[in-house]
This record gives sequence, C-alpha cells and structure tokens, in this order.
Amino acid sequence: MSKQNGSTGSVVHVGTASRSYDVRIGAGTLSELGSVARKIGCERACVITETNVGPLYATAAEDSLCEAGIEVADRLTFIAGEPSKDLATLGTLLEGLAERELTRDDLVIAVGGGVTGDIAGLAAALYLRGIRVIQVPTSLLAMVDSSVGGKTAIDLSAGKNLAGAFWQPSAVVADVRCLASVPHALFVDSCGEVIKHAVLADATLLDELTLTPLSDAALDEQLLTRVVTRNIVIKRDVVAADEREHGLRQTLNLGHTIGHAIEAASDFALGHGSCVAAGLCIMARAAACKGWCARETCERIVRCVAAHGLPTGSDLESDLLLHYMAHDKKRHGDSVNIVVPAEIGRAEVRRVSLGELRELVALGCEGEKR
Ligand code: GLY
Repeated sequence: MSKQNGSTGSVVHVGTASRSYDVRIGAGTLSELGSVARKIGCERACVITETNVGPLYATAAEDSLCEAGIEVADRLTFIAGEPSKDLATLGTLLEGLAERELTRDDLVIAVGGGVTGDIAGLAAALYLRGIRVIQVPTSLLAMVDSSVGGKTAIDLSAGKNLAGAFWQPSAVVADVRCLASVPHALFVDSCGEVIKHAVLADATLLDELTLTPLSDAALDEQLLTRVVTRNIVIKRDVVAADEREHGLRQTLNLGHTIGHAIEAASDFALGHGSCVAAGLCIMARAAACKGWCARETCERIVRCVAAHGLPTGSDLESDLLLHYMAHDKKRHGDSVNIVVPAEIGRAEVRRVSLGELRELVALGCEGEKR
C-alpha cells in the first residue's frame, strides 16, 4: 500500500514472490538513502553511476550512506549512454565489485537513469550469484518504470535488452528533485510511459494529464511526487501479480511492439517514450477500427499524447515496421502477442499472426494520415 510519509512524500510497498521492498518517493529523499540502507542492514556499499549523473548526485548519495555509518567503497563510473549497456561495461563493473571485495552482505547503489539501473542491477544479480541493490533513479523514465519491477539487462549486437535477469531491488529511493537536471526534451519523451500507465489503469490520471500535461509541470515537486507515486502503484500492482511476465505483466508492453519497431527503424533517433506514445496511438486506432475499443477511447489516448507534444503516429513505411516486429524478441513462431487498449483503465493481450499484425499497423498508420 502507498502511504504518506510526513510532508516529504510517499512510500509504496512492493511485494513480489522473490522480494518485498519499499519505494520512497519525494523531494529530497536522496538524503534518506543512508537510513534506508541501514534499515536493510549492510556494512559496505558501492555506488555505480555514469559520467553525466555521477558528478551531480553520487557524492550526495555517498554522504548520506557515510552519515548512516555505512562504509563506502570507491565509486564505479561508466561512460553515460546506451552504448555502455554492453558486455564489456558489465565485465568492467563485475571486476570492479570484485576488486573492492564486496561481499554478499554489502550493497550496490545504482544512481542514474534507465541505463544505470539496468546494467548495475544486472551486475548485482550476477556478482557472487546475487547481491542486494538499491535503485536510485534520477530520470522520469527510471522513476516511473525501470527502477521498479526487477528487470535488469544489457544490449547485444542483435538487439536491446537481449541478456538480463529478473533481480528485484531491496529498496528504491526516487528523489523528484533530481528531475530538475533532466534535459526538457528527455523529460517530455519519458511522459510516453506515464501516459501508457494512465491508459492501462487510471482514466482520471489520463484526463488530468490531458488538461495539465506533465511536460508543462516539470518543476512542480508536489505534482511530480503525486504522479510518480501513482505510476509506481500502477506498476507495483502489475508486477506483484505477475513478476515474470507470464500474463498480466505483458500489458506493460502496451505501445511497445510497434514502439520498438519505430525505435529500431529510426535508428534510435527518436526517444523510447516518443516511440511508445506513437505505438500506443497506432494500436489504439487499429483497435478502434477492429471494434476492440470504442472510437472515443482512441481519441482520448491521442488527445493526451498530442497535449504532451509527443508523436501520435509514424511516417515510416508499414513494411519496414513489420520487418522489425517480425524480429521482436517477444515473437512466438509466426505470431506475436500484442497489447490493445480495451477501454481506458483496461488492456487486453491478443495473439495475432504476422499477417494480422500487418493489417493492424496499416490501419493504425493510415488512420492518422486521413
Ligand atoms: N517495462 C516493462 C516491465 O517492467 O515489465
């Protein structure tokens, strides 16, 4: 359950089969990292971060750990950016943890955005067959999505996130003040995942976001705390029911089948959240054409995406998108599971053939051009 934590923010408790933990959200929560780590119980901790975020927040994280009486090992810093999410960087991090002689009683502290959370989480999952990690997300995308739920990964030459593990954190500390240093374009891009959560589970949030786009409120700490908390509760409810993505967790891929194809086909020129937003609108349009959702459902989704200045479709050729979807890692033989909005607040997983997917993409892309 989420509960208010004094005036500084909120705490969401996440319970999964493999681990239970608290997510602390608010303005200034980074200073509580030490007490969170002490409560978990550890002697030593090692911060893993990258070259952009490290200089901004790693010292504050380490100071908080020291003040709580935790010994801090030398920080591990890798070069910022998706290209670092590879085997070579993972190897360097694992060697670094070993050189610092971290033990199973110690903690990894992942300070950064989605790339840091993914690779530091995977390093923690692998080192000594698994040591505990606290996720300290500093981007909107990491706060509302990747820091919660235990997915960790690196990219392979064949595609993104192709090697990884489910490794739940022992705590998450989300300080919305960190969002002030996120470039505005990246913040806006991440709103795609926020809108996706609203479509999945919260019609009121969708309407609020349409009226007051989060992209216009990037510095409102109270609003950010409330929206991040709501997003984490939505994600928590899904991963608590289906940690390993056998069923309900697949709905978190709403907008992603087409979104990933747009991302890859545009050679990653367009941000992940923008691609998810476009994928969401294309799928909603196709679903409305097929009678799987009301036209009004589709219109509400497109209105909210447009209000955030995110793309509501794609100019890329349907055949090119199909080519990338046919290579999606979630493909099953000649079919693929797609997620469609049934109504605002409820999504459905449908297994469709590649031929049916071709028809859906054409319907969804054409709908916008009309
Ligand atoms: N980002 C989708 C998931 O965590 O399952």
